[in-house]
Amino acid sequence: MRSGEAFIHHVITMSGAKAKSVFRATRICPCDLSSELGYISAMKILGIETSCDETAAAIVEGDGAGAGQILSNVVLSQLNDHRPFGGVVPEIAARAHLDHLDAIIARAVAEADLSLNAIDGIAATSGPGLIGGVHVGSMTAKAMASARGLPFIAVNHLEAHALTARLTDGVAFPYLLLLVSGGHCQLLAVEGLGQYSLLGTTIDDAIGEAFDKTAKLLGLGFPGGPAVQDAASRGDPKRFKLPRPLKGREGCDFSFSGLKTAVRQTALKLDTPTAGQDIDDLAASFQSAVCDTVADRCRNAFTQFEDKLGVTPPALVAAGGVAANLALRAILEDICTAGNIRLVVPPPALCTDNAAMVAWAGLERLHAGLTSPLNFQPRPRWPLAELRAAE
Ligand code: KG4
Ligand code: ZN
Repeated sequence: MRSGEAFIHHVITMSGAKAKSVFRATRICPCDLSSELGYISAMKILGIETSCDETAAAIVEGDGAGAGQILSNVVLSQLNDHRPFGGVVPEIAARAHLDHLDAIIARAVAEADLSLNAIDGIAATSGPGLIGGVHVGSMTAKAMASARGLPFIAVNHLEAHALTARLTDGVAFPYLLLLVSGGHCQLLAVEGLGQYSLLGTTIDDAIGEAFDKTAKLLGLGFPGGPAVQDAASRGDPKRFKLPRPLKGREGCDFSFSGLKTAVRQTALKLDTPTAGQDIDDLAASFQSAVCDTVADRCRNAFTQFEDKLGVTPPALVAAGGVAANLALRAILEDICTAGNIRLVVPPPALCTDNAAMVAWAGLERLHAGLTSPLNFQPRPRWPLAELRAAE
Protein backbone atom coordinates (compact mmCIF):
# COMPACT_ATOMS: atom_id res chain seq x y z
CA MET A 1 0.00 0.00 0.00
CA ARG A 2 1.06 3.63 -0.42
CA SER A 3 1.34 5.24 2.97
CA GLY A 4 1.63 8.98 2.95
CA GLU A 5 2.19 9.07 6.71
CA ALA A 6 5.14 6.78 6.40
CA PHE A 7 6.73 8.98 3.77
CA ILE A 8 6.26 12.04 5.93
CA HIS A 9 8.24 10.39 8.74
CA HIS A 10 10.88 9.37 6.29
CA VAL A 11 11.24 12.80 4.77
CA ILE A 12 11.38 14.57 8.11
CA THR A 13 14.23 12.31 9.12
CA MET A 14 16.11 12.98 5.95
CA SER A 15 15.74 16.51 4.90
CA GLY A 16 13.98 18.83 7.28
CA ALA A 17 11.22 21.37 6.95
CA LYS A 18 11.47 22.21 3.27
CA ALA A 19 11.13 18.60 2.27
CA LYS A 20 8.28 18.17 4.73
CA SER A 21 6.23 20.98 3.25
CA VAL A 22 6.80 19.87 -0.33
CA PHE A 23 5.86 16.38 0.63
CA ARG A 24 2.72 17.30 2.54
CA ALA A 25 1.46 19.28 -0.42
CA THR A 26 1.95 16.60 -3.04
CA ARG A 27 1.94 13.24 -1.20
CA ILE A 28 4.54 11.71 -3.45
CA CYS A 29 7.06 9.05 -2.65
CA PRO A 30 10.58 9.87 -1.40
CA CYS A 31 12.27 9.20 -4.75
CA ASP A 32 9.92 11.58 -6.57
CA LEU A 33 10.61 14.10 -3.86
CA SER A 34 14.36 13.72 -4.10
CA SER A 35 14.35 14.37 -7.82
CA GLU A 36 12.18 17.47 -7.22
CA LEU A 37 14.68 18.73 -4.69
CA GLY A 38 17.66 17.80 -6.83
CA TYR A 39 19.35 15.26 -4.55
CA ILE A 40 19.55 11.51 -4.48
CA SER A 41 17.93 10.09 -1.38
CA ALA A 42 20.17 7.34 -0.04
CA MET A 43 18.13 5.50 2.55
CA LYS A 44 19.26 3.28 5.37
CA ILE A 45 16.96 0.38 6.16
CA LEU A 46 17.09 -2.00 9.10
CA GLY A 47 16.13 -5.53 8.03
CA ILE A 48 15.06 -8.39 10.31
CA GLU A 49 14.98 -12.09 9.37
CA THR A 50 13.43 -14.75 11.63
CA SER A 51 11.50 -17.04 9.29
CA CYS A 52 13.48 -20.23 9.91
CA ASP A 53 16.54 -20.99 12.05
CA GLU A 54 18.62 -17.84 11.60
CA THR A 55 18.09 -14.81 13.83
CA ALA A 56 19.40 -11.98 11.70
CA ALA A 57 19.52 -8.19 11.49
CA ALA A 58 21.27 -5.96 8.96
CA ILE A 59 21.45 -2.38 7.78
CA VAL A 60 21.63 -1.64 4.07
CA GLU A 61 22.00 1.70 2.34
CA GLY A 62 21.02 2.59 -1.21
CA ASP A 63 19.55 5.27 -3.41
CA GLY A 64 17.36 2.94 -5.44
CA ALA A 65 19.60 3.18 -8.51
CA GLY A 66 22.09 0.33 -8.86
CA ALA A 67 23.58 -1.89 -6.17
CA GLY A 68 23.34 -1.13 -2.47
CA GLN A 69 25.81 -1.08 0.36
CA ILE A 70 25.67 -3.46 3.31
CA LEU A 71 26.59 -1.49 6.42
CA SER A 72 26.17 -4.46 8.76
CA ASN A 73 24.92 -8.03 8.44
CA VAL A 74 24.59 -10.07 11.64
CA VAL A 75 23.38 -13.68 11.52
CA LEU A 76 22.98 -15.89 14.56
CA SER A 77 22.53 -19.50 13.50
CA GLN A 78 20.44 -21.80 15.69
CA LEU A 79 22.00 -24.93 14.18
CA ASN A 80 23.26 -26.26 17.50
CA ASP A 81 19.78 -25.94 19.04
CA HIS A 82 18.22 -28.04 16.27
CA ARG A 83 21.01 -30.51 15.48
CA PRO A 84 19.95 -33.12 18.10
CA PHE A 85 16.55 -33.31 16.35
CA GLY A 86 17.96 -33.65 12.82
CA GLY A 87 15.87 -30.73 11.56
CA VAL A 88 14.40 -27.38 12.56
CA VAL A 89 11.90 -27.56 15.46
CA PRO A 90 9.50 -24.60 15.01
CA GLU A 91 8.82 -24.02 18.72
CA ILE A 92 12.52 -24.04 19.61
CA ALA A 93 13.20 -21.67 16.69
CA ALA A 94 10.54 -19.17 17.78
CA ARG A 95 11.77 -19.12 21.38
CA ALA A 96 15.38 -18.67 20.28
CA HIS A 97 14.41 -15.72 18.03
CA LEU A 98 12.63 -14.16 21.02
CA ASP A 99 15.69 -14.66 23.25
CA HIS A 100 18.24 -13.22 20.83
CA LEU A 101 16.65 -10.78 18.40
CA ASP A 102 17.05 -7.61 20.51
CA ALA A 103 20.78 -8.21 20.96
CA ILE A 104 21.26 -9.04 17.27
CA ILE A 105 19.53 -5.79 16.25
CA ALA A 106 21.67 -3.80 18.72
CA ARG A 107 24.77 -5.43 17.25
CA ALA A 108 23.72 -4.65 13.65
CA VAL A 109 23.22 -0.99 14.61
CA ALA A 110 26.58 -0.87 16.42
CA GLU A 111 28.48 -2.60 13.59
CA ALA A 112 27.05 -0.11 11.10
CA ASP A 113 28.42 2.61 13.41
CA LEU A 114 25.05 4.34 13.47
CA SER A 115 22.38 5.31 15.92
CA LEU A 116 18.78 4.25 15.36
CA ASN A 117 18.05 7.89 14.55
CA ALA A 118 19.81 7.39 11.21
CA ILE A 119 17.43 4.62 10.10
CA ASP A 120 14.77 5.51 7.50
CA GLY A 121 12.60 2.40 7.64
CA ILE A 122 12.24 -1.01 9.26
CA ALA A 123 11.68 -4.14 7.19
CA ALA A 124 10.98 -7.65 8.47
CA THR A 125 10.28 -10.98 6.84
CA SER A 126 6.53 -11.35 7.29
CA GLY A 127 6.18 -14.67 5.47
CA PRO A 128 6.37 -17.31 4.16
CA GLY A 129 8.06 -19.30 6.91
CA LEU A 130 7.66 -20.86 10.35
CA ILE A 131 4.95 -18.63 11.67
CA GLY A 132 6.11 -18.38 15.32
CA GLY A 133 9.45 -16.95 14.23
CA VAL A 134 7.86 -14.74 11.58
CA HIS A 135 5.64 -13.21 14.29
CA VAL A 136 8.65 -12.48 16.51
CA GLY A 137 10.46 -10.58 13.73
CA SER A 138 7.38 -8.78 12.41
CA MET A 139 6.16 -7.69 15.85
CA THR A 140 9.60 -6.39 16.77
CA ALA A 141 9.82 -4.41 13.52
CA LYS A 142 6.30 -3.01 13.94
CA ALA A 143 6.99 -1.98 17.54
CA MET A 144 10.21 -0.22 16.55
CA ALA A 145 8.58 1.46 13.56
CA SER A 146 5.66 2.61 15.66
CA ALA A 147 7.81 3.89 18.54
CA ARG A 148 10.19 5.76 16.24
CA GLY A 149 7.62 6.98 13.71
CA LEU A 150 9.25 5.10 10.84
CA PRO A 151 7.73 3.22 7.90
CA PHE A 152 7.28 -0.53 8.36
CA ILE A 153 7.80 -2.79 5.34
CA ALA A 154 6.45 -6.37 5.46
CA VAL A 155 8.88 -8.31 3.28
CA ASN A 156 8.13 -11.55 1.46
CA HIS A 157 11.11 -13.82 2.23
CA LEU A 158 11.16 -15.18 -1.33
CA GLU A 159 11.15 -11.68 -2.80
CA ALA A 160 14.12 -10.89 -0.55
CA HIS A 161 16.01 -13.85 -2.05
CA ALA A 162 14.83 -12.83 -5.54
CA LEU A 163 16.14 -9.26 -5.26
CA THR A 164 19.51 -10.07 -3.64
CA ALA A 165 21.32 -9.95 -6.99
CA ARG A 166 20.16 -6.35 -7.37
CA LEU A 167 21.76 -5.53 -4.00
CA THR A 168 25.04 -7.28 -4.82
CA ASP A 169 25.34 -6.70 -8.58
CA GLY A 170 22.78 -4.05 -9.49
CA VAL A 171 21.07 -6.46 -11.92
CA ALA A 172 18.39 -4.69 -13.96
CA PHE A 173 14.86 -6.00 -14.62
CA PRO A 174 13.86 -8.25 -16.34
CA TYR A 175 15.74 -11.43 -15.47
CA LEU A 176 15.20 -15.15 -15.10
CA LEU A 177 15.23 -16.31 -11.49
CA LEU A 178 16.14 -19.78 -10.25
CA LEU A 179 14.92 -19.87 -6.66
CA VAL A 180 16.40 -22.88 -4.89
CA SER A 181 15.93 -23.07 -1.12
CA GLY A 182 14.88 -25.40 1.67
CA GLY A 183 11.20 -24.91 0.89
CA HIS A 184 11.19 -24.05 -2.83
CA CYS A 185 12.45 -24.90 -6.27
CA GLN A 186 11.08 -22.52 -8.87
CA LEU A 187 11.90 -20.75 -12.11
CA LEU A 188 10.34 -17.30 -12.45
CA ALA A 189 10.41 -14.43 -14.91
CA VAL A 190 11.08 -11.28 -12.88
CA GLU A 191 9.74 -8.27 -14.75
CA GLY A 192 9.89 -5.73 -11.94
CA LEU A 193 9.41 -5.24 -8.23
CA GLY A 194 6.50 -7.46 -7.21
CA GLN A 195 6.11 -8.77 -10.78
CA TYR A 196 6.93 -12.47 -10.82
CA SER A 197 5.55 -15.05 -13.29
CA LEU A 198 6.00 -18.68 -12.42
CA LEU A 199 7.54 -20.72 -15.26
CA GLY A 200 8.05 -23.94 -13.32
CA THR A 201 8.07 -25.41 -9.82
CA THR A 202 8.67 -28.69 -8.06
CA ILE A 203 5.88 -31.23 -8.20
CA ASP A 204 7.08 -32.95 -5.01
CA ASP A 205 10.09 -32.11 -2.78
CA ALA A 206 11.87 -28.78 -2.66
CA ILE A 207 15.49 -28.99 -3.79
CA GLY A 208 16.95 -28.12 -0.36
CA GLU A 209 14.64 -30.72 1.17
CA ALA A 210 16.09 -33.29 -1.25
CA PHE A 211 19.63 -32.37 -0.14
CA ASP A 212 18.62 -32.48 3.54
CA LYS A 213 16.81 -35.84 3.28
CA THR A 214 19.65 -37.37 1.28
CA ALA A 215 22.14 -36.19 3.90
CA LYS A 216 20.03 -37.79 6.63
CA LEU A 217 19.79 -41.03 4.67
CA LEU A 218 23.54 -41.13 4.16
CA GLY A 219 24.23 -40.30 7.81
CA LEU A 220 25.88 -37.01 6.87
CA GLY A 221 24.11 -34.95 9.51
CA PHE A 222 22.44 -31.58 9.61
CA PRO A 223 22.28 -29.19 7.78
CA GLY A 224 22.25 -31.46 4.78
CA GLY A 225 23.18 -29.27 1.82
CA PRO A 226 26.69 -28.28 2.91
CA ALA A 227 27.28 -31.84 4.24
CA VAL A 228 26.35 -33.42 0.88
CA GLN A 229 28.52 -30.89 -0.96
CA ASP A 230 31.44 -31.68 1.32
CA ALA A 231 31.11 -35.47 0.90
CA ALA A 232 30.56 -35.06 -2.86
CA SER A 233 33.83 -33.14 -3.17
CA ARG A 234 35.65 -36.39 -2.27
CA GLY A 235 33.41 -38.68 -4.35
CA ASP A 236 33.04 -39.99 -7.89
CA PRO A 237 29.88 -38.53 -9.49
CA LYS A 238 29.85 -41.23 -12.18
CA ARG A 239 30.00 -44.27 -9.90
CA PHE A 240 26.23 -44.68 -9.41
CA LYS A 241 23.68 -44.27 -12.23
CA LEU A 242 20.85 -42.25 -10.72
CA PRO A 243 17.74 -40.93 -12.50
CA ARG A 244 17.46 -37.35 -13.79
CA PRO A 245 13.75 -36.72 -13.09
CA LEU A 246 11.86 -34.90 -15.90
CA LYS A 247 15.10 -34.36 -17.88
CA GLY A 248 14.32 -34.05 -21.59
CA ARG A 249 10.63 -33.43 -20.95
CA GLU A 250 8.81 -30.23 -21.91
CA GLY A 251 8.36 -27.41 -19.42
CA CYS A 252 10.28 -26.14 -16.44
CA ASP A 253 8.90 -28.23 -13.56
CA PHE A 254 11.13 -30.18 -11.18
CA SER A 255 10.80 -33.49 -9.34
CA PHE A 256 13.15 -34.91 -6.72
CA SER A 257 11.29 -37.66 -4.87
CA GLY A 258 12.23 -40.41 -7.39
CA LEU A 259 15.88 -39.43 -7.12
CA LYS A 260 15.69 -39.59 -3.33
CA THR A 261 14.17 -43.10 -3.53
CA ALA A 262 16.89 -44.19 -5.96
CA VAL A 263 19.55 -42.97 -3.49
CA ARG A 264 17.89 -44.98 -0.71
CA GLN A 265 17.74 -48.15 -2.83
CA THR A 266 21.33 -47.75 -3.92
CA ALA A 267 22.46 -47.23 -0.31
CA LEU A 268 20.59 -50.38 0.78
CA LYS A 269 22.47 -52.46 -1.81
CA LEU A 270 25.88 -51.35 -0.56
CA ASP A 271 27.84 -53.79 1.61
CA THR A 272 29.09 -51.04 3.88
CA PRO A 273 26.46 -48.33 3.57
CA THR A 274 27.98 -46.10 6.21
CA ALA A 275 31.56 -46.32 5.05
CA GLY A 276 33.42 -43.31 3.70
CA GLN A 277 34.10 -43.78 -0.01
CA ASP A 278 30.69 -45.33 -0.81
CA ILE A 279 28.92 -42.46 0.88
CA ASP A 280 31.12 -39.87 -0.81
CA ASP A 281 30.48 -41.46 -4.23
CA LEU A 282 26.74 -41.65 -3.61
CA ALA A 283 26.64 -38.02 -2.45
CA ALA A 284 28.59 -36.99 -5.58
CA SER A 285 26.28 -39.03 -7.85
CA PHE A 286 23.20 -37.47 -6.20
CA GLN A 287 24.57 -33.93 -6.51
CA SER A 288 25.46 -34.54 -10.14
CA ALA A 289 21.93 -35.82 -10.91
CA VAL A 290 20.41 -32.74 -9.24
CA CYS A 291 22.69 -30.41 -11.19
CA ASP A 292 21.93 -32.10 -14.54
CA THR A 293 18.20 -31.85 -13.86
CA VAL A 294 18.35 -28.19 -12.88
CA ALA A 295 20.45 -27.35 -15.94
CA ASP A 296 17.93 -29.07 -18.24
CA ARG A 297 15.02 -27.19 -16.65
CA CYS A 298 16.88 -23.86 -16.90
CA ARG A 299 17.53 -24.40 -20.63
CA ASN A 300 13.79 -24.84 -21.16
CA ALA A 301 13.18 -21.74 -19.07
CA PHE A 302 15.43 -19.68 -21.38
CA THR A 303 13.00 -20.51 -24.20
CA GLN A 304 9.87 -19.93 -22.11
CA PHE A 305 11.21 -16.57 -20.94
CA GLU A 306 11.82 -15.54 -24.54
CA ASP A 307 8.34 -16.71 -25.60
CA LYS A 308 6.79 -14.68 -22.77
CA LEU A 309 8.85 -11.49 -22.85
CA GLY A 310 10.13 -11.49 -26.43
CA VAL A 311 13.79 -11.32 -25.37
CA THR A 312 16.45 -13.81 -24.34
CA PRO A 313 16.89 -13.50 -20.57
CA PRO A 314 19.56 -10.83 -20.07
CA ALA A 315 20.58 -12.63 -16.88
CA LEU A 316 19.97 -15.82 -14.95
CA VAL A 317 19.93 -15.07 -11.24
CA ALA A 318 20.27 -17.94 -8.78
CA ALA A 319 18.94 -17.32 -5.28
CA GLY A 320 18.19 -19.23 -2.07
CA GLY A 321 20.32 -21.45 0.14
CA VAL A 322 21.00 -24.16 -2.48
CA ALA A 323 22.50 -21.50 -4.78
CA ALA A 324 25.46 -21.68 -2.39
CA ASN A 325 26.24 -25.13 -3.90
CA LEU A 326 29.47 -24.96 -5.89
CA ALA A 327 28.64 -27.78 -8.34
CA LEU A 328 25.33 -26.10 -9.15
CA ARG A 329 27.10 -22.80 -9.74
CA ALA A 330 29.55 -24.52 -12.10
CA ILE A 331 26.84 -26.12 -14.26
CA LEU A 332 24.83 -22.88 -14.37
CA GLU A 333 27.99 -21.14 -15.55
CA ASP A 334 28.27 -23.68 -18.40
CA ILE A 335 24.70 -23.29 -19.66
CA CYS A 336 24.80 -19.51 -19.38
CA THR A 337 28.07 -19.32 -21.30
CA ALA A 338 26.56 -21.54 -24.01
CA GLY A 339 23.41 -19.37 -24.16
CA ASN A 340 25.34 -16.08 -23.96
CA ILE A 341 23.43 -15.18 -20.80
CA ARG A 342 24.90 -13.39 -17.79
CA LEU A 343 24.90 -15.55 -14.66
CA VAL A 344 24.59 -13.78 -11.32
CA VAL A 345 24.91 -15.75 -8.10
CA PRO A 346 25.34 -13.74 -4.89
CA PRO A 347 28.12 -14.80 -2.50
CA PRO A 348 27.17 -17.92 -0.44
CA ALA A 349 26.54 -15.93 2.76
CA LEU A 350 23.92 -13.86 0.92
CA CYS A 351 22.33 -16.95 -0.71
CA THR A 352 21.49 -18.58 2.62
CA ASP A 353 19.08 -16.77 4.93
CA ASN A 354 20.27 -13.34 6.06
CA ALA A 355 18.80 -9.96 6.91
CA ALA A 356 20.73 -7.87 4.36
CA MET A 357 18.43 -9.26 1.66
CA VAL A 358 15.39 -8.31 3.77
CA ALA A 359 16.68 -4.79 4.32
CA TRP A 360 17.33 -4.48 0.57
CA ALA A 361 13.84 -5.68 -0.39
CA GLY A 362 12.47 -3.17 2.14
CA LEU A 363 14.62 -0.44 0.60
CA GLU A 364 13.42 -1.22 -2.92
CA ARG A 365 9.81 -1.16 -1.74
CA LEU A 366 10.22 2.08 0.20
CA HIS A 367 11.86 3.72 -2.81
CA ALA A 368 8.86 2.61 -4.87
CA GLY A 369 6.55 4.18 -2.29
CA LEU A 370 5.33 0.86 -0.91
CA THR A 371 5.01 0.41 2.83
CA SER A 372 2.85 -1.83 5.01
CA PRO A 373 0.23 -1.04 7.63
CA LEU A 374 1.05 -1.89 11.23
CA ASN A 375 -1.83 -4.37 11.24
CA PHE A 376 -0.27 -6.42 8.41
CA GLN A 377 -0.90 -10.11 9.19
CA PRO A 378 2.19 -12.36 8.84
CA ARG A 379 1.62 -15.22 6.40
CA PRO A 380 2.92 -18.78 6.75
CA ARG A 381 2.21 -19.27 3.04
CA TRP A 382 2.85 -16.40 0.60
CA PRO A 383 3.72 -17.50 -2.96
CA LEU A 384 5.90 -15.13 -4.95
CA ALA A 385 3.78 -15.44 -8.06
CA GLU A 386 0.83 -14.10 -6.03
CA LEU A 387 2.79 -11.13 -4.76
CA ARG A 388 1.84 -7.87 -6.34
CA ALA A 389 3.86 -4.68 -6.11
CA ALA A 390 1.05 -3.04 -4.20
CA GLU A 391 0.95 -5.56 -1.33
O1 KG4 B 1 17.31 -20.16 1.69
P1 KG4 B 1 17.68 -21.01 2.85
O2 KG4 B 1 18.85 -20.58 3.72
O3 KG4 B 1 16.45 -21.21 3.80
C1 KG4 B 1 15.16 -21.32 3.27
O4 KG4 B 1 14.54 -20.25 3.06
O5 KG4 B 1 14.77 -22.46 2.99
O6 KG4 B 1 17.94 -22.48 2.29
C2 KG4 B 1 18.26 -23.54 3.15
C3 KG4 B 1 18.52 -24.76 2.30
C4 KG4 B 1 18.72 -26.01 3.14
O7 KG4 B 1 17.96 -27.06 2.60
C5 KG4 B 1 20.21 -26.26 3.00
O8 KG4 B 1 20.55 -27.64 3.14
C6 KG4 B 1 20.47 -25.75 1.61
O9 KG4 B 1 19.71 -24.58 1.52
N1 KG4 B 1 21.88 -25.46 1.36
C7 KG4 B 1 22.63 -26.10 0.44
C8 KG4 B 1 23.94 -25.58 0.55
N2 KG4 B 1 23.93 -24.62 1.53
C9 KG4 B 1 22.65 -24.56 2.00
N3 KG4 B 1 22.30 -27.07 -0.44
C10 KG4 B 1 23.30 -27.54 -1.24
N4 KG4 B 1 24.57 -27.10 -1.18
C11 KG4 B 1 24.94 -26.12 -0.31
N5 KG4 B 1 26.21 -25.70 -0.25
ZN1 ZN C 1 15.46 -18.59 2.50
